[in-house]
Amino acid sequence: MALLTILTYPDPRLHTVAQPVAKVDDEVQQLVRDMLETMYEAKGVGLAATQVDVHRRVLVADVSETRDRPLVFINPTLVWASDERQVAEEGCLSVPGYYDGVERALQVRVQAWDEHGQSREVHAEGLLAVCLQHEMDHLAGKVFVEYLSRLKRNRIKTKLQKQAREARV
Ligand code: NI
Repeated sequence: MALLTILTYPDPRLHTVAQPVAKVDDEVQQLVRDMLETMYEAKGVGLAATQVDVHRRVLVADVSETRDRPLVFINPTLVWASDERQVAEEGCLSVPGYYDGVERALQVRVQAWDEHGQSREVHAEGLLAVCLQHEMDHLAGKVFVEYLSRLKRNRIKTKLQKQAREARV
Protein backbone atom coordinates (compact mmCIF):
# COMPACT_ATOMS: atom_id res chain seq x y z
CA MET A 1 0.00 0.00 0.00
CA ALA A 2 1.14 3.49 -0.65
CA LEU A 3 -0.02 6.98 0.09
CA LEU A 4 -0.63 8.94 -3.08
CA THR A 5 -0.04 12.65 -3.58
CA ILE A 6 -3.25 14.65 -3.87
CA LEU A 7 -3.23 17.42 -6.48
CA THR A 8 -4.19 20.85 -5.20
CA TYR A 9 -6.40 23.32 -7.03
CA PRO A 10 -5.66 25.15 -9.36
CA ASP A 11 -3.43 22.38 -10.70
CA PRO A 12 -4.47 22.07 -14.38
CA ARG A 13 -4.29 18.24 -14.17
CA LEU A 14 -7.49 18.39 -12.08
CA HIS A 15 -9.30 19.31 -15.29
CA THR A 16 -8.35 16.10 -17.11
CA VAL A 17 -11.29 13.92 -18.17
CA ALA A 18 -10.83 10.36 -16.86
CA GLN A 19 -10.96 7.34 -19.19
CA PRO A 20 -13.12 4.27 -18.53
CA VAL A 21 -11.51 1.20 -16.95
CA ALA A 22 -11.60 -1.75 -19.38
CA LYS A 23 -11.07 -4.46 -16.79
CA VAL A 24 -10.59 -4.67 -13.02
CA ASP A 25 -7.12 -6.17 -12.90
CA ASP A 26 -4.40 -6.21 -10.21
CA GLU A 27 -3.27 -2.74 -11.16
CA VAL A 28 -6.77 -1.29 -10.70
CA GLN A 29 -7.20 -3.14 -7.38
CA GLN A 30 -3.87 -1.74 -6.18
CA LEU A 31 -4.99 1.75 -7.22
CA VAL A 32 -8.23 1.27 -5.24
CA ARG A 33 -6.30 0.17 -2.11
CA ASP A 34 -3.91 3.11 -2.40
CA MET A 35 -6.76 5.56 -2.95
CA LEU A 36 -8.60 4.25 0.13
CA GLU A 37 -5.46 4.54 2.24
CA THR A 38 -4.88 8.06 0.95
CA MET A 39 -8.50 9.09 1.57
CA TYR A 40 -8.50 7.75 5.16
CA GLU A 41 -5.12 9.34 5.91
CA ALA A 42 -6.38 12.71 4.60
CA LYS A 43 -9.67 12.29 6.56
CA GLY A 44 -11.75 12.74 3.44
CA VAL A 45 -15.16 11.19 2.70
CA GLY A 46 -14.37 10.67 -0.97
CA LEU A 47 -11.51 10.62 -3.44
CA ALA A 48 -11.47 10.45 -7.23
CA ALA A 49 -8.53 9.00 -9.19
CA THR A 50 -8.19 12.38 -10.97
CA GLN A 51 -7.11 13.89 -7.65
CA VAL A 52 -4.12 11.54 -7.46
CA ASP A 53 -3.24 12.20 -11.10
CA VAL A 54 -4.56 8.88 -12.41
CA HIS A 55 -7.04 9.63 -15.15
CA ARG A 56 -9.25 6.57 -14.98
CA ARG A 57 -12.88 6.36 -13.87
CA VAL A 58 -12.34 5.19 -10.30
CA LEU A 59 -13.62 6.75 -7.10
CA VAL A 60 -13.72 5.70 -3.47
CA ALA A 61 -15.87 6.95 -0.60
CA ASP A 62 -16.68 6.34 3.03
CA VAL A 63 -19.41 8.46 4.57
CA SER A 64 -19.74 6.36 7.75
CA GLU A 65 -19.10 7.87 11.19
CA THR A 66 -16.94 4.85 12.05
CA ARG A 67 -14.76 5.16 8.92
CA ASP A 68 -14.98 1.47 8.20
CA ARG A 69 -17.41 1.32 5.27
CA PRO A 70 -15.28 1.77 2.17
CA LEU A 71 -17.21 2.07 -1.09
CA VAL A 72 -15.61 1.59 -4.49
CA PHE A 73 -17.09 2.85 -7.75
CA ILE A 74 -15.39 1.92 -11.00
CA ASN A 75 -16.81 3.39 -14.22
CA PRO A 76 -19.64 5.10 -12.32
CA THR A 77 -22.63 6.32 -14.33
CA LEU A 78 -25.43 8.46 -13.03
CA VAL A 79 -28.60 6.58 -13.97
CA TRP A 80 -31.08 8.79 -12.15
CA ALA A 81 -31.11 12.04 -10.20
CA SER A 82 -34.06 13.45 -8.25
CA ASP A 83 -35.63 16.69 -9.43
CA GLU A 84 -35.52 17.78 -5.84
CA ARG A 85 -32.28 19.60 -5.15
CA GLN A 86 -30.55 20.85 -2.08
CA VAL A 87 -27.65 23.14 -1.19
CA ALA A 88 -25.09 21.48 1.08
CA GLU A 89 -21.71 22.64 2.25
CA GLU A 90 -18.85 20.89 0.47
CA GLY A 91 -15.13 20.72 0.87
CA CYS A 92 -12.50 18.92 -1.16
CA LEU A 93 -9.12 17.37 -0.41
CA SER A 94 -7.82 19.23 -3.48
CA VAL A 95 -9.09 22.57 -2.11
CA PRO A 96 -7.81 22.40 1.47
CA GLY A 97 -9.41 24.73 4.00
CA TYR A 98 -12.35 25.89 1.86
CA TYR A 99 -15.99 24.97 2.28
CA ASP A 100 -18.99 26.38 0.46
CA GLY A 101 -22.54 25.57 -0.50
CA VAL A 102 -23.23 23.73 -3.76
CA GLU A 103 -26.68 22.85 -5.11
CA ARG A 104 -27.06 19.23 -6.19
CA ALA A 105 -29.71 16.55 -6.61
CA LEU A 106 -30.99 15.33 -3.24
CA GLN A 107 -30.95 11.68 -4.34
CA VAL A 108 -29.12 9.85 -7.09
CA ARG A 109 -28.78 6.34 -8.43
CA VAL A 110 -25.34 5.36 -9.65
CA GLN A 111 -24.39 2.22 -11.55
CA ALA A 112 -20.78 1.12 -11.19
CA TRP A 113 -18.46 -1.84 -10.74
CA ASP A 114 -17.13 -2.66 -7.31
CA GLU A 115 -13.48 -3.62 -6.64
CA HIS A 116 -14.17 -7.14 -7.95
CA GLY A 117 -15.62 -5.89 -11.23
CA GLN A 118 -19.17 -6.74 -10.14
CA SER A 119 -21.75 -4.35 -11.51
CA ARG A 120 -24.32 -2.94 -9.13
CA GLU A 121 -26.59 0.05 -8.72
CA VAL A 122 -26.45 2.17 -5.58
CA HIS A 123 -29.22 4.48 -4.44
CA ALA A 124 -27.74 7.38 -2.52
CA GLU A 125 -29.11 10.26 -0.51
CA GLY A 126 -27.72 12.66 2.05
CA LEU A 127 -23.94 12.88 2.31
CA LEU A 128 -23.35 9.93 -0.03
CA ALA A 129 -25.42 11.57 -2.78
CA VAL A 130 -23.41 14.78 -2.41
CA CYS A 131 -20.15 12.84 -2.32
CA LEU A 132 -20.89 10.76 -5.43
CA GLN A 133 -21.90 13.81 -7.48
CA HIS A 134 -18.80 15.68 -6.28
CA GLU A 135 -16.43 12.78 -7.09
CA MET A 136 -18.04 12.09 -10.47
CA ASP A 137 -17.47 15.75 -11.29
CA HIS A 138 -13.76 15.20 -10.55
CA LEU A 139 -13.70 12.35 -13.08
CA ALA A 140 -15.15 14.79 -15.62
CA GLY A 141 -12.40 17.29 -14.78
CA LYS A 142 -14.57 19.54 -12.65
CA VAL A 143 -13.73 20.89 -9.18
CA PHE A 144 -16.55 22.10 -6.87
CA VAL A 145 -15.21 25.68 -6.76
CA GLU A 146 -16.34 25.95 -10.39
CA TYR A 147 -19.91 26.21 -9.03
CA LEU A 148 -18.97 29.27 -6.97
CA SER A 149 -18.86 32.86 -8.19
CA ARG A 150 -15.84 33.95 -10.19
CA LEU A 151 -14.92 36.29 -7.35
CA LYS A 152 -14.86 33.50 -4.75
CA ARG A 153 -13.10 31.11 -7.09
CA ASN A 154 -10.36 33.61 -7.87
CA ARG A 155 -9.88 34.39 -4.20
CA ILE A 156 -9.43 30.66 -3.44
CA LYS A 157 -7.09 30.24 -6.41
CA THR A 158 -4.89 33.15 -5.32
CA LYS A 159 -4.69 31.98 -1.70
CA LEU A 160 -3.88 28.37 -2.59
CA GLN A 161 -1.23 29.48 -5.13
CA LYS A 162 0.33 31.68 -2.45
CA GLN A 163 0.32 28.76 0.06
CA ALA A 164 1.92 26.47 -2.53
CA ARG A 165 4.68 29.02 -3.20
CA GLU A 166 5.32 29.43 0.52
CA ALA A 167 5.40 25.66 1.04
CA ARG A 168 8.12 25.33 -1.62
CA VAL A 169 10.42 27.89 0.08
NI1 NI B 1 -13.09 16.84 -4.21
